[in-house]
Amino acid sequence: MGIGTGMYRRMLLSIAGRRTVERLAAKYGGKLASRFIAGDSREEALAVAADLNKRGILVTLDHLGEGIRRLEEASSYRDEYVELVRSIAKNGVLGNVSLKPTQMGLVLDAKACYGNIRSVVLEARKTRGFVRIDMEDSPYTQATIDIVRRLHAEGLTNVGTVLQAYLYRSEQDAAELTKENIRLRLVKGAYKEPASIAYQRSADVIANLRKIAGSLMSQSAYVAIGSHDDRIINWVRDFAASNGIAKDAFEFQMLYGLRMGYQEKLASEGYRVRCYVPYGVMWYPYFTRRLAEKPANLWMVVKHSWR
Ligand code: FDA
Repeated sequence: MGIGTGMYRRMLLSIAGRRTVERLAAKYGGKLASRFIAGDSREEALAVAADLNKRGILVTLDHLGEGIRRLEEASSYRDEYVELVRSIAKNGVLGNVSLKPTQMGLVLDAKACYGNIRSVVLEARKTRGFVRIDMEDSPYTQATIDIVRRLHAEGLTNVGTVLQAYLYRSEQDAAELTKENIRLRLVKGAYKEPASIAYQRSADVIANLRKIAGSLMSQSAYVAIGSHDDRIINWVRDFAASNGIAKDAFEFQMLYGLRMGYQEKLASEGYRVRCYVPYGVMWYPYFTRRLAEKPANLWMVVKHSWR
């Protein structure tokens, strides 16, 4: 047997933050990453979104960026998101946006970060748009939840977040946030987290995701299931069917470049399907996480890069 999946994932996640690797990958890996990224520019992302919409698939657009080092970078990400939200409305794209708190300055200045995210949410509200705050690694879990709660308390309800089924705390968070009508995307979780706070076994993560999804769907909360895993997707389909839950009372979300044919098929069956479409030049950490999740992604990328 070769290198185990667990070890592979740990290895890739541990090199993901290294500056030299980042620089090298930024120089040579762009071609490889293009399978998962819509392009460098907003225009390219909007073109991909229009094409997906034609196939019956909704989108969430993500301008790539995270872990910034200067606050001015956060301001420019904010400005890009404001423009993005405007372009979505102007072009009649069926979609919303996803952003990351560290991209908006969370680590550097929490107050400025709140202001930046608030500006995007306010802009989106003008056109009935929605903003999803992605969930990053555990040092930022509470802060991210606090931001979403505070926005809702201010009356800005067109914003939701993500809960990671690998975290023990997520079941409780899901119950509390749902009481406040905060919309959630449920995912397994993409970062390396210790056993003190997170399930390590895939079976436990899947069981927890199903448990939380079932609970939210039973309460008629509109939940997004972010996964490519048939053990999750099929379970959700069966759960909905056997509990009389309509196909449009929840949505499936998958990443651009993964199972595209299946996304289209689910949409054609009447499910709401949303594709997470990243764009921009800061693709390296996103790309590395995709490779860490599934070794086969690496081979698919390598294969495609020779075409
Ligand atoms: P995983 O990669 O664990 O694969 C399990 C099984 O699914 C495979 O063995 C295979 O059977 C099937 N499968 C997977 N990919 C396939 C493919 N390409 N073709 C065929 N079969 C395939 N994470 C996070 O921490 N914070 C966040 O905010 C988000 N946001 C987010 C949004 C969206 C829309 C998605 C889909 C995911 C995220 N994630 C995330 C990432 C998430 O936490 C998780 O790391 C990945 O989705 C990988 O887990 P999966 O359940 O998709 O399958």
